[in-house]
Amino acid sequence: MTDIKTVGVVGFGLMGSGIAQVCAEAGHNVIVREVNDAALTKGLGSIEKFLSKGVEKGKMTAEKKAEIMGRLKGTTKLEDLAPCDVVIEAVVENIALKHETFRALDKVCGKDAVFASNTSSLSITEMAACSGRPDRFVGLHFFNPVPLMKLVEVVRGPMTSPDVFEAMCAFGTGIGKTVVRATDKPGFIVNRLLVPYMVDAIRALEQGVGSVPDIDEAMKLGCGYPMGPFTLLDFVGIETTYYIANIMFDEFKEARYAPPTLLKRMVQAGMYGKKSGKGFYDYSTNPPTPTKGLV
Ligand SMILES: NC(=O)c1ccc[n+]([C@@H]2O[C@H](COP(=O)([O-])OP(=O)(O)OC[C@H]3O[C@@H](n4cnc5c(N)ncnc54)[C@H](O)[C@@H]3O)[C@@H](O)[C@H]2O)c1
Repeated sequence: MTDIKTVGVVGFGLMGSGIAQVCAEAGHNVIVREVNDAALTKGLGSIEKFLSKGVEKGKMTAEKKAEIMGRLKGTTKLEDLAPCDVVIEAVVENIALKHETFRALDKVCGKDAVFASNTSSLSITEMAACSGRPDRFVGLHFFNPVPLMKLVEVVRGPMTSPDVFEAMCAFGTGIGKTVVRATDKPGFIVNRLLVPYMVDAIRALEQGVGSVPDIDEAMKLGCGYPMGPFTLLDFVGIETTYYIANIMFDEFKEARYAPPTLLKRMVQAGMYGKKSGKGFYDYSTNPPTPTKGLV
């Protein structure tokens, strides 16, 4: 594979902005595509804010920040991604939208360009099959917040060329991440193990094993985890966990992936966690307090 100079990112939300930032920091030219100018301004603003903090703390010079920002270009036109050597898709988790995005990208990008999806739960193989280049397609699963989380899961499907897979592992290392290799099974490595743990914690709560803060404290101090399962659930998003657990249960038909009733009820109630202000904890108080009336 030839050198990767220009990276395209489709979607400039939470993940896309972090991915674009780490690619630009690593010296790649980055072209980001969004649906409108407001989304582009928001994405660039979040990178600018992150880098400015680095300058304030003396971790980065103002010149370095300007250099990184100078490598980022936003556009609303997909055709502007034509010069990209790699395109990383980070649009919302919707299979129809992802298919449409890759079909359109195949028409505008060079035949050697590699396509990657940052999906958490959808099939890399299914997307690869409609991308027009199934051998040049991988999963690149980053973690939130991308500039701070060291890991990227590089995912191959049965059609991924071994050369492309290795090149994308090297690309992941080159942008400063620690690469783990995974095959295309729902949840890859991290969510495959994490989702049953989180839903088990909810079942323990439903069965009265302990309270939300006691279960959190137990897993923090007993296992040395940086946060307990309910704090983590609120951070990841209750609806996101519910969505992924359903996909994994559909695939494996194993009870350990099945979303517990409480998880479903919280989604129905709009308690999505930190982002909505209420999940297992209520974030309207400082510090957050356990949400009343869950069980
Ligand atoms: N949030 C996480 O913790 C996390 C972690 C790993 C992977 N992911 C995956 O990353 C992807 C993005 O998630 P997110 O949390 O950044 O979502 P987000 O909602 O913050 O961002 C998605 C962005 O995509 C844009 N978009 C929608 N259609 C588009 C199109 N056709 N072209 C360009 N942009 C378009 C939206 O305007 C939005 O800004 C999803 O597949 C998700 O599963 C998320």
